[in-house]
Amino acid sequence: MNRATPRNPVAFFERVGRIDGKPIRLYPYQKKLLLDPGRFRMINKSRQVGISWAIGLKALHKAMIDPRTRYGYVASAEKQGVEWLEEVRAVWAELPRPWRMPLRSDKKTKIAFEGGGSIEIRATSASSIRSGRWTDLLLDEFAHVYEDRSIINAALPKISRSKTGSLDIVSTPLGQRGMFYEMWTDDAYRELFKRFEIPWHECPDLNESIIQLARRTLGEDGYAQEYECSFLDETASYFPYDLFLANQRDIEVYEFAPAPDVRLLWPASVHDDHWKAQVAELAADIREACPELVDGWPLFGGFDVGRTTDTSEVYLVREEGDLLPERFRVTLKRVNFTHQRFFLAALMEALPVQMICVDQTGIGRDIAEYLQTEYPARVEPVHFSAELKEDLVTTAKGLLQDRRTPVDHDRTLMLQARTIKRVAGQTKMLFKVDRSEARGHHADRFWAWTLALRAATKAHGYQPALATVSTW
Ligand SMILES: Nc1ncnc2c1ncn2[C@@H]1O[C@H](COP(=O)(O)OP(=O)(O)OP(=O)(O)O)[C@@H](O)[C@H]1O
Ligand SMILES: [Mg+2]
Repeated sequence: MNRATPRNPVAFFERVGRIDGKPIRLYPYQKKLLLDPGRFRMINKSRQVGISWAIGLKALHKAMIDPRTRYGYVASAEKQGVEWLEEVRAVWAELPRPWRMPLRSDKKTKIAFEGGGSIEIRATSASSIRSGRWTDLLLDEFAHVYEDRSIINAALPKISRSKTGSLDIVSTPLGQRGMFYEMWTDDAYRELFKRFEIPWHECPDLNESIIQLARRTLGEDGYAQEYECSFLDETASYFPYDLFLANQRDIEVYEFAPAPDVRLLWPASVHDDHWKAQVAELAADIREACPELVDGWPLFGGFDVGRTTDTSEVYLVREEGDLLPERFRVTLKRVNFTHQRFFLAALMEALPVQMICVDQTGIGRDIAEYLQTEYPARVEPVHFSAELKEDLVTTAKGLLQDRRTPVDHDRTLMLQARTIKRVAGQTKMLFKVDRSEARGHHADRFWAWTLALRAATKAHGYQPALATVSTW
């Protein structure tokens, strides 16, 4: 039997909906969003407060009650869309049979109901918005979409012409830039769009300890942006967000975080009898985990040792023709120096790392010395001087400007890069991390990435365009 879906989405999902086997209980602001009749809405939100999912419920409900519905989803990365649709599909799959409207089509990027509407992930481009047939649109994490202006220009007239369609523009802020900021602050848009602001503390499932951790890893500014809906002024930043957005691609980056129990199996010291055998074993595991990195294009690495925090970072970029995309990043959190050394040795054995720049400042010295002894032609120990930082920062910026260094959609690198400031030195400009903003956080990942770029560009004598250097 197929029962008609009740028209009130909150009552419907709370009565019969389930998530992971438990009855759905919507947060107050999710209820408000689901019941709000507004057709043009902007939602400025903290991370992880359940907005993509809630709008997914809206899409599911609308597609089931109105057969004309063609719900579209757009974000900067296709992967995000696929995950979103999976969550929507999961809610549908947990509906009791009488309410689970049968699917006419079930694809990775589209579901369509028999006798109902459809929900589809759309390509992040103005042409796909302009030409596609859709009635409702969710632009998710919109501040992170590089083609934001042309997408709005394509979307607005289409929704305006329809009588029942809707446009939800959702994002965590990303600086005082881009269409999301412009539309949020411009009075002309204020008349058309209804606004919702949802900071983290409105979410019953986000607690202080999660937030304290975010404050530590992102710094005060990053935290205010990611969790308190603040638009940061980025005029002083040497790495404006747009520079990163222009280089973001849907690329596969291999990430590895050794679990504490795995580390217990690692050798106790470099003099351990089994050291070499264990290095070989871990190398085999790494090769198995990322087979596509084993052959072919050479890799270049950077290692930044955690000086004041307990986190070290390893980055690998791969030379693919003219490009240097990131391919591998590892955070070694609370891993002692012996085990950091062990991990790096296994990495050198596992993958075709042509050159790795290793931070030898202070506590990094032992690791750098060990690697240089073992792999003399493939390791460059570097000292974190003001000159080195300047070189790292200008090279990275030059490569970003030349669109030669694709990165994935991970935000940490972009947020850490923002904390790099120019300060006037006696004879030249110096770069440093603004510690007042980034308490307990020292842009380790950013420095590891720039070290990897140094390893790659030194091998090929890359010089950033002169214009790049002279702009500061
Ligand atoms: N009311 C709820 N009850 C239980 N789980 C929920 C609820 N709302 C959201 N969730 C779960 O919380 C997780 C995060 O939700 P969602 O991805 O929608 O958050 P978001 O605000 O879009 O986060 P992000 O900033 O990462 O985009 C999802 O896995 C979702 O299933
Ligand atoms: Mg989301």
